[in-house]
Amino acid sequence: VAPVITIDGPSGSGKGTVASLLSMRLGWNLLDSGALYRLLALAASNHGIDLANEELLRVLATHLDVQFLPAEAEYSQRIMLEGEDVTNVIRSEYVGAGASQVAAWPAVRSALLLRQHAFRQLPGLVADGRDMGTVVFPDASLKIFLTASAEERARRRFLQLKESDSDVTLGSLLDDIRKRDARDTQRTVAPLKPAVDAIQLDSTVLSIEQVLGRILEEVAI
Ligand code: CDP
Repeated sequence: VAPVITIDGPSGSGKGTVASLLSMRLGWNLLDSGALYRLLALAASNHGIDLANEELLRVLATHLDVQFLPAEAEYSQRIMLEGEDVTNVIRSEYVGAGASQVAAWPAVRSALLLRQHAFRQLPGLVADGRDMGTVVFPDASLKIFLTASAEERARRRFLQLKESDSDVTLGSLLDDIRKRDARDTQRTVAPLKPAVDAIQLDSTVLSIEQVLGRILEEVAI
């Protein structure tokens, strides 16, 4: 079986960027598991499905028509939903909040499990999310848990979003991050927590390159 490196952590910890750069550096496949929950939330909104309807969401998750097209430029894989490019649309705070709601349903999580396992292909996989090391790939060869202070994570999100989403403010993002942290850590299924064998890295005062460097040191061991 192909080796897996998992990178888990809260919103804005930098795991997405780090995972994407690491996958390119190693020439491995990439699983952005958060995108699956975002795609499901967007599909639910497009089809008028209530985010409180676990059974309908489970069916939708099972049949979700999505494609991840490999990155051409730097670190931007294109993400398609029902044939439409939704790469940017799924990054909005609105879709992110919906993702965290659909992600709380056990039936949704198990419906997405097989889909996530399918990304594990040679020469290897870098998987980023909340439960990659704890639930989806418990046998991963290297597990990283990336954190940063809530203030720093809100600041990073703000810099990312201010160009495209004129409604966002630093205050609203900090509020949103705290709510999302609470929901992600307190839910009963697959709560956000480090795997017992994860290496914890605090990125509050580290650059992306420094985080990547630390992880590559572990890969080399
Ligand atoms: O970048 P950010 O962390 O804000 O979002 P994301 O990684 O795209 O994940 C969006 C939401 O999906 C999170 O708030 C989680 O509730 C959920 N999620 C999850 O439950 N399990 C995963 N493996 C990945 C994401």
